[in-house]
Amino acid sequence: MDHFTYRDGVLHAEDVPLPLIADEVGTPFYVYAAATLRRHYRVFAEGFAGSGALVAFAVKALSNIAVLSLLGKEGAGADIVSGGELFRALKAGIPADRIVFSGVGKTRAEMKAALEAGILQFNVESEAELRQLAGVAEEMDVAAPLALRVNPDVDAGTDTRISTGRKNDKFGIPWDEAVRLYTEAAAHPSLAPRGIAMHIGSQITSLMPFEKAAGRGRDLVTALRGKGCEVASLDLGGGLGIPYRQDGEVPPLPSDYAAIIRRLTDDLGVQVIMEPGRLIAGNAGLFVTEVLLQKDQDGTQYVIVDGGMNDLMRPALYGSHHDVQEVAQSDAEPKSCHIAGPVCESTDVFLRDAALRDPKEGALLAFRGAGAYGATQSSQYNTRPLAPEVLVDGERFAIIRKRPSYEDMLSGEAVPSWL
Ligand code: LLP
Repeated sequence: MDHFTYRDGVLHAEDVPLPLIADEVGTPFYVYAAATLRRHYRVFAEGFAGSGALVAFAVKALSNIAVLSLLGKEGAGADIVSGGELFRALKAGIPADRIVFSGVGKTRAEMKAALEAGILQFNVESEAELRQLAGVAEEMDVAAPLALRVNPDVDAGTDTRISTGRKNDKFGIPWDEAVRLYTEAAAHPSLAPRGIAMHIGSQITSLMPFEKAAGRGRDLVTALRGKGCEVASLDLGGGLGIPYRQDGEVPPLPSDYAAIIRRLTDDLGVQVIMEPGRLIAGNAGLFVTEVLLQKDQDGTQYVIVDGGMNDLMRPALYGSHHDVQEVAQSDAEPKSCHIAGPVCESTDVFLRDAALRDPKEGALLAFRGAGAYGATQSSQYNTRPLAPEVLVDGERFAIIRKRPSYEDMLSGEAVPSWL
């Protein structure tokens, strides 16, 4: 469920008409509904109520500090993958003991910053990383809390570009090395292994891969305990999919997902950690863009908009589908067209064969499902400023990231004096 609905023929974000935001911030822009973010967080967390589980929002999905702050107030932790995301999460007031640090490559500086902050755990993905983390912790005279991220060799059945849990993917420690590494880490004075972690992929629309992975996690916890190791946490990552088409496939309910995880973990006596990103943020955001012009290319109708693949790159990168809605409803007959951006690449097409009723110059179009991996994956390609982000909360709205000026965009660049 989201909070983007038509009222009097105009698409609103909660109680705010989108043209009002467009007037204030210009186009293109991202807009998020606070009510949807809260609702999605609560629905997810409710499934784990009473279990002591930590819901650590995957910051990479939507990393604006206003959003992190909102989720932090709901009780969320953060799953981070860089020093930058650590900085954001702390800035947003998420307590360090609710932060887990994932990622297949972490720099020594990032490890140090996270140890200084006192995060809950590093999710370590290789023997080399374990050695490096031990080195950094030793210099600081601390023991680094960590989980071993193992590769469960489970096929998530999702797009291969966002699949992470098969044995040849770059992620995680090979299954059969987990026990040896965990026992070695437990014997190291600068390492404090506390659990197992895994993450099998993203936009997963069946419960079976999750069940398989959690079952394997359960087996590993038991095996480690059999060897006398202490295991306090089991991090099962993120990955639950969302509906991207209003008339399309309906992914499993978060409550059914939680029920399966709980069936396999409740009696283990571990703190379960979950890292949802897309599920919370995806359908809480729209990308809003304005029609610049229409173009007939030898019989093919193009609607050219002012947002581009640099702003929302999922269609160009993965061929992802985002439903489009005309902000002003119209009774005109729908006509088929391709909706494309102004970037100088043929892949800068958002939607082919879209049915639009009145895409006249100046009309606003809203792409749905743009809250996750939208703004966070944007770039300034073609020297296009990052689209601003706006948070709506009831009747209020605020610019939570402004559009940079051209001066801002060039502020880090310099021409050497010898040129
Ligand atoms: N935990 C880890 C370790 C991850 O790598 C990810 C996502 C998540 C949690 C959150 O997964 P989610 O619940 O959002 O599915 N850019 C792609 C998605 C890449 C996901 C990368 N890892 C897209 O736009 O579809």
